[in-house]
Amino acid sequence: MKIESRRKIVAGNWKMNLDLTEAAEWLAEVDAGLRSDKCDVLVFPSFIFLGDLMDMYEGEQILFGAQNCSNKESGAYTGEVSAAQLASVGVEYVIVGHSERREHFGETNQMLKEKIQRALKNEITPIFCCGEPLEVRNANKQLEYVKQQLEESLLGFSAAAIAEIIVAYEPVWAIGTGLNATPEQAQEMHAFIRAEIAAKYSPDIAAQVPILYGGSCKPDNAKALFSCADVDGGLIGGASLNAKDFLKIIQAV
Ligand code: 13P
Repeated sequence: MKIESRRKIVAGNWKMNLDLTEAAEWLAEVDAGLRSDKCDVLVFPSFIFLGDLMDMYEGEQILFGAQNCSNKESGAYTGEVSAAQLASVGVEYVIVGHSERREHFGETNQMLKEKIQRALKNEITPIFCCGEPLEVRNANKQLEYVKQQLEESLLGFSAAAIAEIIVAYEPVWAIGTGLNATPEQAQEMHAFIRAEIAAKYSPDIAAQVPILYGGSCKPDNAKALFSCADVDGGLIGGASLNAKDFLKIIQAV
């Protein structure tokens, strides 16, 4: 199932957390607590549980995605998982370019472009993450920094491809730190990203692309962030691990 344009989306990126039992309990609790169709709910478990969880889940309200995929098509790449393999078990979304992948695993803008290409080829919707580290924000160079990330990874694709993608703005200084962008900072960057897409493609295409905010988004700040005009929901890390907190964030949409 594809997300309609500019639907609100709340996505939980579990990172390397939760075991299979905890993940199954989370699914049951979140599914039971979902009360509205105001937003699409996505969850990104570890690769190892994706197939099991998708098989086990009998509801229709939660969509599943992978936290990463390889930039290679197939072959001798021990430990990697390809977009085609993800598609073969029914995965429809993949996070590309999370700052933790960029920082700890040396992922470059060029590699991320290749990952987006692989995902799209396999009809998987990429959630492309961008965002600046603290020193860039302190130097007030965040717009130039994100512009380069967009140009080198994303903005070479066709208009039809861009209309299918999701962007997540994740300021690195806000991830897992308890610091979050203010609604004004988030709105400024989201509007900038949308304007860059509009300039390269068209305002109509830009208007279709959901842009999510990620970085210490929690029940107590979600409403203010989600009420910004260009913030279409959130990519939630730490607060997504707790089903009750995650449900509260969904209710903030
Ligand atoms: P936190 O919500 O833990 O800051 O993480 C955000 C994130 O990295 C989502 O992908």
